[in-house]
Parts: sequence; structure tokens; C-alpha cells
Amino acid sequence: MTIGVDHIAAYIPNQYLALEDLALARNVDPNKFLVGLGNREMSIASASEDVVVLAANAGKRVLEEADVDPGDVGLLIVGTESAVDRAKPTATHVHELLRIGNACRTFDVMHACAGATYGILSAIDWLQNKKNKYALVIASDIACYGKGSPGEPTQGAGAVAILLSTNPRLMTLNEVNNYSKNVYDFWKPWDKDFPIVEGVYSSQCYLEAVKNCFKDQDIDQNAAFLYHTPYPKLIKHAHSNVVSRLNLGLDWEQHYLEKVAPFSDFSSRIGNIYTGSLWLTLANFLENCYASEGSSQHNSDRGSYQNSGCHLFSYGSGCGAVLMRGLFSREWSSMAKFLNINEVLDNRLRLTMEEYESLVDGNEIGKDYLSRSFFKFEGLQNDQRQYTRLAQVDL
Ligand code: HMG
Repeated sequence: MTIGVDHIAAYIPNQYLALEDLALARNVDPNKFLVGLGNREMSIASASEDVVVLAANAGKRVLEEADVDPGDVGLLIVGTESAVDRAKPTATHVHELLRIGNACRTFDVMHACAGATYGILSAIDWLQNKKNKYALVIASDIACYGKGSPGEPTQGAGAVAILLSTNPRLMTLNEVNNYSKNVYDFWKPWDKDFPIVEGVYSSQCYLEAVKNCFKDQDIDQNAAFLYHTPYPKLIKHAHSNVVSRLNLGLDWEQHYLEKVAPFSDFSSRIGNIYTGSLWLTLANFLENCYASEGSSQHNSDRGSYQNSGCHLFSYGSGCGAVLMRGLFSREWSSMAKFLNINEVLDNRLRLTMEEYESLVDGNEIGKDYLSRSFFKFEGLQNDQRQYTRLAQVDL
């Protein structure tokens, strides 16, 4: 019996800020953000889109596209570090909005950006003896570092829903290696509005985790290399380490251009979505492969990935990291065809700096920025969060 990802879908808010505009406002050379970090745009949630709304939208989409009845979901996990309550799980709201049955184990996993990955590994264990059931893991986050902070150009918002099953239609997934170490690289004390970040140190911790996870592993150089991507430049540094340490005798830069860089485009246009970042990179890989179907270059790439699959590296500050191996099923394109993230990104609304700052301050900005969402956060009543469905939801 094989276990892995049956389908994957993302929800990205309908508005973004161009990083040239941010650079101009912050009096910084735009190339620092565009080239130095490798980011071009960042996705911004509206005041009515909290992590519950982002997660519910991604979850709705993955279930509908996979044609899976919510009643067949026996495990629902939300991975998030932007939770809206310190006791009540985000997943309980998502469970209700998706109309998943009551015979379901429902909880959140928090471990900085690695929360959803640990949820996925738990789901794989859970599926060992659950033949006709599905596990749904949703990574949902809104990254805010504060106006003018060094982390500001790496912000992002979005959710990725990962449906797991036995005999998956997309890929099998296996854990290869783990790394954990107690470090203070990025953390969120209860009384602070924004994370405390030791920026340079956090990148060093990330690179140390990459080195330890890949060490002494059986690596296929023809596979795709998919990394948690806080900003694309960091994964370039990471990959140079991986290739040089593995002694593969490769030109690392060429290898990076072929096996890593093409799959960080969504990150560059969305920003860091924390728990969803690695899984967004997987979606980027799948969409690239499917979108260029028919071209001869694509056919040879696709044949090669069919044999070699992908290596997936997840990192969460604090810190914990996991290296995994994914192998694609024969019918993977029947699911990958649903991914249309590029189209969503091309059709978003560009915010002005004024609108961006108003949203960061928690205000609505009077435009129809929720046009792609099926759910809305309506505010608090008796300290209880209220959500509504905006359109007919068939679930
Ligand atoms: P900074 O310190 O302002 O930037 O912010 P910098 O001065 O280090 O420059 C960055 C790069 O831009 C450098 O390139 C510069 O040379 C280059 P590199 O040395 O890396 O090759 N540069 C330029 N290039 C072209 N033209 C120019 C120019 N100027 C400079 N004019 C920092 C960088 C990452 C510290 C900041 O963005 C930050 O604090 N980010 C948040 C933390 C972060 O993303 N850490 C990453 C690892 S930790 C992680 O992944 C976990 C996380 O996802 C959270 C979680 O797990 O929950 C964050």
C-alpha cells in the first residue's frame, strides 16, 4: 500500500504589493528586494481574510477538485503560526465551514513554518490502517513583520491544502531525515504584535539544518529540489551547499537554474507563507510541468521527474527541519491539471502603498478585494469569531 498526496490546492488573497513600490516608500534600492532577496511581489490579506478564511478556501478547492466527499475526511489538521486563539484550534472553524462530519479528529499543529509538514507526517502515520479515508492538512498563514522592518519585504499570505490518501493520485511521500535544535532565530512572544527575528542568524540556522538533513543521504541529482522558501535568494545559497557537500561533480549554478529556480516563482510573487511555503513550491513544480505539456523539452523533463521524483526540505524556526522524498504516480497529471496559480497571480489587484498600510493597520479599504473568497470573517460577537459563506458552497 502506498500513502501520499492525492491532491493539492492553494488560496492566495486577491491583492498584492509590488516590491518596487515598497522599496521606493522605504527609501531602499529596489534591487535589494528584487535581486538581493529574489522577491518581486507580496500577497496581502484583506481585513476579512484571517487564517480560517484562507484555510477554508484552500480546503474547499482541494476537496471539490479531487471529488472527495467531506464526510470521507477522518483527520483534519491545520498547520499555522498565525492562530486566532490560544486554545481553540483554527481547525475547528475550518471543520465547520467545510462541512466535514463529526467523526473526524480535528486539531492544529504549531511549529513555526514546519507545522503543516509535521501534520502531514502524522497524517501519513494515521493513514497506515485507514484504507478508504482521507486526511486533510491545511497550511495557512499571514506573515507580518511590521512597517519598515528588515523582514517586511518577505511578507506573504496564503493557504495550501494537501489531501492525503492511500494509493494517492499525485505522489507518494516518505520521511528521509530530521533535524532539531533549540535556537532563538525567529519567535513570537505572546505580548508582541510582530515576531522577533535574528535575521542573519535565522538564515544561518536554516543553512545548518539543510546541511544536516542532506548529509549522508541517497540523493538523486535528476530529481526536483523543493525547499521551504522564506525568500528565493536563501534557497540559492542552500542549494549551493547541498551540491558542493554531496560531491556530485556538478556545476551547482546550472543545477540550481534547472532543478530549483523554476519552482520558486510563486514564492517570489506571493512572499513567505510560512507553513505553506514548501507546499506552494511543490504546487509551482506541478503547475510548471503540466503547463508546458506537449513541448519536447517538457516531455524529456517529465520523463526524468517521473523516474526521479523530488526531494522536499521543510524548515521551521526554533528549530526543526525534515527532508522528504516524493515519487510521482503515473496519473499525476490528472490532478496537476487543476492548478492555476499563475492565472490567479496574473489577475490580482495591485495595491497602492497607502492601501497596503491601511490593511496592515487592520482596516478595510472599501474595494471588492474578496471577490475570489467563499468565506468572510465578520468580526467578534461575545468574544466568538463569526464567519459567513459569501456564495453558494456545495460542500
Ligand atoms: P537585510 O538584513 O536587510 O538584508 O534583510 P541584507 O543586507 O542581508 O541583504 C540581503 C541580500 O541582498 C544580500 O545578498 C545582499 O548582498 C543583497 P546575499 O549576501 O544573501 O547574497 N543586496 C543587494 N543585492 C542587489 N542590489 C542591492 C543590494 N543590497 C543588498 N542594492 C533578512 C535580510 C533575511 C535578514 C530579512 O529579510 C529578514 O529578517 N527576513 C525575515 C527572516 C527570514 O526570512 N529568515 C530566513 C531563514 S528563517 C526561516 O526560514 C523561518 C521563517 O520562515 C519563519 C518560521 O519558520 O516560522 C522566517
